[in-house]
Amino acid sequence: MDLEMPQAPVDYSTIPPLTEQTRLEAREIIARYPKARSALLPMLHLVQSVQGYVSPDGIRLCSEELGLTKAEVGAVATFYTMYRRRPAGTYHVGVCTNTLCAVLGGDAIFSSLKDHLGIGHNETTADGTVSLEHLECNAACDFAPVVMVNWEFYDNQTPSSARDLVDAARAGNPPAPTRGPSRLCTFKQAERVLAGFPDGLANEGPAAGPASLAGLELARERGETAPPFPDGTVPGAVVQQQKDEA
Ligand code: FES
Repeated sequence: MDLEMPQAPVDYSTIPPLTEQTRLEAREIIARYPKARSALLPMLHLVQSVQGYVSPDGIRLCSEELGLTKAEVGAVATFYTMYRRRPAGTYHVGVCTNTLCAVLGGDAIFSSLKDHLGIGHNETTADGTVSLEHLECNAACDFAPVVMVNWEFYDNQTPSSARDLVDAARAGNPPAPTRGPSRLCTFKQAERVLAGFPDGLANEGPAAGPASLAGLELARERGETAPPFPDGTVPGAVVQQQKDEA
């Protein structure tokens, strides 16, 4: 981690306020759950979709609507790493520095971006366009080293390609993710989806790339199949049957 870097100042006067519309949408989320407090996680994403982080006003709103104390809401917001304590950039860049990505170049990518952008872990550039974060494993090890921007995958990165990626994002023209949708949304747009307001792009692009399917392809070439379950059911047969019937 890069705790030695001083925190960049944040201009909180530019943060949009939470509105009556935010409160109405929070109630819409609450209505989806049998128990109101179950709505807290998507509500925090809703706050981030407006303000780019979990603000004191956002904690107050969640507390008022759910009948929780501000301490209880704050405890949840500070437990999970997807909730930001300072405003994220328009493009929130997460570099996987977990073991596999780290040894294949993730540490070098993070160090390069830190120097290139002049910011450290959990900091945002002064123009508000890019924030940077160490990420734990993204379950995309077969594409290591992986960078995520607003939770979309950029696979098989290098320090050079990652610098090009953030430069394009700062210029307002980020490339499309390697997998998933054909264009990259902003951090706030992504947060709105996580709050439970879909943008219709969830099924765009391949869910699994060639590297993830290599073992399956090899098994098919060799005619290999998994042994049946004790009850005689063949693994994958139900899924295949559902696909055939669709
Ligand atoms: S270690 Fe980076 S995606 Fe798994």
